[in-house]
Amino acid sequence: MLGRVNHVALAVPDLSDAMARYRSMLGATVSAPQALPEHGVTVAFVELANTKVELLEALGDASPIRAFLEKNPSGGMHHICYEVADIIAARDALKANGARVLGSGEPKTGAHGNPVLFLHPKDFAGTLIELEEVRGS
Ligand code: CO
Repeated sequence: MLGRVNHVALAVPDLSDAMARYRSMLGATVSAPQALPEHGVTVAFVELANTKVELLEALGDASPIRAFLEKNPSGGMHHICYEVADIIAARDALKANGARVLGSGEPKTGAHGNPVLFLHPKDFAGTLIELEEVRGS
């Protein structure tokens, strides 16, 4: 079912500070920040040769990462995103095996314009999983 790791996401308390650190101290290429109101986050991507690191800052009072940042004030790893070729087929197979899909269970459009879903961390080694449909993955 799983293709490549699309990105690892880090929740950060201050996006511009995190972007500056990745740029100036780690020498990384970092994309421009992008507000995703539907997801309650502003994101920027650290572009790497083999994958990306997604830096997430809370956007709005109902941001899904606010509670995480309260528990982890200096930030931390929030989720890992795997590519799948067919997100509906993946969702249906996971649900048939008892995995919990978060939210309505219907894919939303993610930061790359592709459909995404999230899986309950308690079902997968304590880690929130994002699935992103990437054709050909
Ligand atoms: Co993500």
